[in-house]
Amino acid sequence: MDDLREEYLKLIAEAGDESGLEALRVQILGKKGELSLRMRELGGMTPEERQTAGPKLNALKDEINSAFASRKAGLADAALENRLRDEWLDVTLPPRARREGSIHPVSQVTEEVTAIFADMGFAVAEGPQIETDFYNFDALNMPANHPARAEMDTFYMSRREGDNRPPHVLRTHTSPVQIRSMEAQGAPIRVIAPGRVYRADYDQTHTPMFHQVEGLAVDRDIDMANLKWTLEEFFSAFFGTRVETRFRASHFPFTEPSAEVDIQCSWDGGQVRVGEGDDWLEVLGSGMVHPKVLRAAGVDPAEWRGFAFGMGIDRIAMLKYGIPDLRAFFDSDLRWLRHYGFSPLDRPTVHAG
Ligand code: DAH
Repeated sequence: MDDLREEYLKLIAEAGDESGLEALRVQILGKKGELSLRMRELGGMTPEERQTAGPKLNALKDEINSAFASRKAGLADAALENRLRDEWLDVTLPPRARREGSIHPVSQVTEEVTAIFADMGFAVAEGPQIETDFYNFDALNMPANHPARAEMDTFYMSRREGDNRPPHVLRTHTSPVQIRSMEAQGAPIRVIAPGRVYRADYDQTHTPMFHQVEGLAVDRDIDMANLKWTLEEFFSAFFGTRVETRFRASHFPFTEPSAEVDIQCSWDGGQVRVGEGDDWLEVLGSGMVHPKVLRAAGVDPAEWRGFAFGMGIDRIAMLKYGIPDLRAFFDSDLRWLRHYGFSPLDRPTVHAG
């Protein structure tokens, strides 16, 4: 028994890891383990033999058990020591650089425009990009044979034979949102409607999809002076400097009278600067909402009148941020986006800049 004890204690001391130790424990103390077999042999002994062998075997079993326990604790401690030594972390290291997305100039400018008009009491309205020809044309006083329809390079949705839903188009301007907003809300109303518009046109200064913001203010005593004041306030806030406007008589089917609006600028070595100099740059169309348009939207022109305007968002984004090429707006070139994009953490307010 002393030999067994020596041998077991030596094997336990030499076990190199916890799984080796466990295998050894099964081998010695398991159901079919050597020591268990010895215990079973007690049954075949005489009572006298058993009296001496029994306590000795039990004492040996206890000793081996506790040798296992303390070796196990020792191995666990050592394993933890190793991990603590190997897996340390230098929390003072600088973090790895993470690539951050940027806000597209069109989104940025849309939010700037929205913030400025919100400050003047305009809510934001939206309409569908796939629009019926009623909202895109008829309700805006452009009946089927009207020349302005042909000028708009409209994308028509194709219809299966027998489909008798009204013809749909990709909206060519944000003006149909005027009709939808007045239908939904009636008068008085003050809304802007920013969004995507589509025309079959592609060259240096035109893309088949671009962005406009529509403005509409209807009340009992609105006139052109309110329009001019609103636009000058807007441009001055947007460009961060006093901007003069020039109204040129024009024609749109949905306004009467109509005006195209230019903003004051200078051309200096190919650089355009808004709010200085004595040149003019056309930026929007506008006018007093045509009585037929009010009526088409369920607003009584005998009681209400209003102004409206439509402006290119991409256009004023290029002007404000010195972006030379319109087509690059929609190329999804990451280098361009990183260069002209805005920080997501730096959202525009009316008071910023
Ligand atoms: N819808 C016109 C366009 O896309 C722009 C426009 C002109 C909108 C005059 C208006 C307006 O609301 O009054 O060219």
